[in-house]
Amino acid sequence: MSNPENILVCDGLVKIFKTEEVEVMALQGLDLQIKKGELVAIIGKSGSGKSTLLNMIGGLERPTAGRIYVDGKDLFAMTEAQLVSYRQNTVGFVWQNSAQNLFPYLNALQNVEAPLYFKKMSEKARREKAMELLKRTGIDHKAMSYPTQLSGGEQQRVAIAVALAMDPKILLADEPTGAVDSKTSDMIQDLFRKLNEELGLTIIIVTHDISLANKVSRVIMVSDGKISTEKIMKEDYRKKLDELSTENLKEMDSHEEYSVLDKARRVQLSEEVLKEAGIDSHMVRVEVVDGKIIISK
Ligand SMILES: Nc1ncnc2c1ncn2[C@@H]1O[C@H](COP(=O)(O)OP(=O)(O)OP(=O)(O)O)[C@@H](O)[C@H]1O
Ligand SMILES: [Mg+2]
Repeated sequence: MSNPENILVCDGLVKIFKTEEVEVMALQGLDLQIKKGELVAIIGKSGSGKSTLLNMIGGLERPTAGRIYVDGKDLFAMTEAQLVSYRQNTVGFVWQNSAQNLFPYLNALQNVEAPLYFKKMSEKARREKAMELLKRTGIDHKAMSYPTQLSGGEQQRVAIAVALAMDPKILLADEPTGAVDSKTSDMIQDLFRKLNEELGLTIIIVTHDISLANKVSRVIMVSDGKISTEKIMKEDYRKKLDELSTENLKEMDSHEEYSVLDKARRVQLSEEVLKEAGIDSHMVRVEVVDGKIIISK
């Protein structure tokens, strides 16, 4: 909150979904800070709370407890009208299911123009802006095609252009490469990196796609509604990213993994780490030896 470089701060987010029979705690006190211009991937098992988090950042879902600050403003302290404006102007959303992103009865160009009707713009300016966005996402040659005439990857390119139409500060994408093959997924990943570099846009991508996560400078792992580990890209790998092919990059060790120490000084250990250390009980011994903390049976 105090760091002005942070465009987004999530502070102790809790989300409880109540249905008739059960209560699900989708987020369990999640803390997260994202700097302006960062490109971040969020990974985690199914049901870990990734979409819930993204929807909350998008202003679509209210937390049960905790706060989200965007550019220092408390998102859920806003009036309903301010929140509507936030959803329209500050964040752009790309969903996994391309059908959810596009109007089927409008062609690609008209889809990108649609959000621009909220702005005071001449028809000509609107058309030019939409065309420019389609060019930026590399799909201007299909401007007159309808969604059903486009492949999954092409639809996602149009969807990204739609999400950029209102010049958002933050682009949110929930499994944007979930429904396309690996080659198309590579193209979409490169597009996200390009948009991040050229526009300085802050981008948060939820993904199952490990190859996508490997190309991103910061990877956040959500487990059981909290952030457990973060991976930061190694500097030498970052330098080679543009030069080497995806195949060669796979051979390299891309990221350094860190466990997250939360505000209550808790660290979450993965099942793999515990297994490797032969720890199977819920009680562990903690000692400091030579400035290192040792956790053992
Ligand atoms: N509207 C809802 N009502 C009740 N429970 C919900 C609702 N939305 C999500 N949940 C529950 O909250 C938990 C987190 O769901 P969420 O969709 O955030 O997971 P996810 O990490 O996005 O999973 P996936 O990778 O499968 O998309 C799950 O246990 C889910 O069943
Ligand atoms: Mg999800």
